[in-house]
Amino acid sequence: MSHARVVAVVNQKGGVGKTTTVFHLARAAARRGRRILVIDLDPQANSTAALAEVEPDQVGIADVLKRPPEALADVLVEGPWGIDVAPSSGEPLAWVRDQLVGETIGRERRLATALASLSEYDLVLIDCAPAVDQLTINALVAAQLALIVTEAKLFSANGLGSLLNTIHGVRTNYHAGLRIAGIVVNRLEQQTVSSAHWLKEIDALAAELGVEVYSPKVPKRVAIADSVEAGIGLDEWGGVDDLAAIYDGYLDNLERALA
Ligand SMILES: Nc1ncnc2c1ncn2[C@@H]1O[C@H](COP(=O)(O)OP(=O)(O)O)[C@@H](O)[C@H]1O
Ligand SMILES: [Mg+2]
Repeated sequence: MSHARVVAVVNQKGGVGKTTTVFHLARAAARRGRRILVIDLDPQANSTAALAEVEPDQVGIADVLKRPPEALADVLVEGPWGIDVAPSSGEPLAWVRDQLVGETIGRERRLATALASLSEYDLVLIDCAPAVDQLTINALVAAQLALIVTEAKLFSANGLGSLLNTIHGVRTNYHAGLRIAGIVVNRLEQQTVSSAHWLKEIDALAAELGVEVYSPKVPKRVAIADSVEAGIGLDEWGGVDDLAAIYDGYLDNLERALA
């Protein structure tokens, strides 16, 4: 059994802030001297672009999930701040995802099996694709915690119910130990009437399920996006210590839940 602590960052909607959250959590953990692995399980490869330099023919997480597999340790590349990255190579990962659909026994456990051979990480963050597909199921089966990222907007908040159903399905069918870490509300614009409405909906759903909504919420701020693009931590950015502190607090929550 692996002792790595694994968090899958999920939402089947794109553009809500999964990759952004993974990046800033990775930085927060790196500052604490944690040993970190980021797995980019999205064919769009946004985490890979933010965290690593890869050649087009680079082996990656797709090669770990295909059959016969490469060992996870053999596809890792160095990211910033001493973190390791299991890169997504785009097309090959989309290909593996489609192959998995046609397979049966054990297809949902491939990532979990690959991770079991690694134990040297304090935190493994999986950046999921915006889909409930075999890749995301593999992430949830491999994880102790699912961290949900959403916006306080119609289509993001509305999709939460089906996401929670998926997590429930993974729990009943494959992985009873999977827990929901909490809900990150991202890119919040305080002043809008509609966001206040959707915040209430999110709070109600969370309360009903006994899930924590992380506090404080992540505001819409240019530095949060730009720092990812520049590959620089919020703590290094200058003038946004308030934002760095938010992710620091989220990491506290995760570490408490994983302890
Ligand atoms: N809190 C925020 N404030 C401003 N821009 C943000 C924030 N969070 C994310 N973004 C931007 O929104 C876009 C989508 O975020 P991303 O993390 O890529 O979403 P996902 O991984 O869920 O598809 C990106 O361009 C990102 O830079
Ligand atoms: Mg993403």
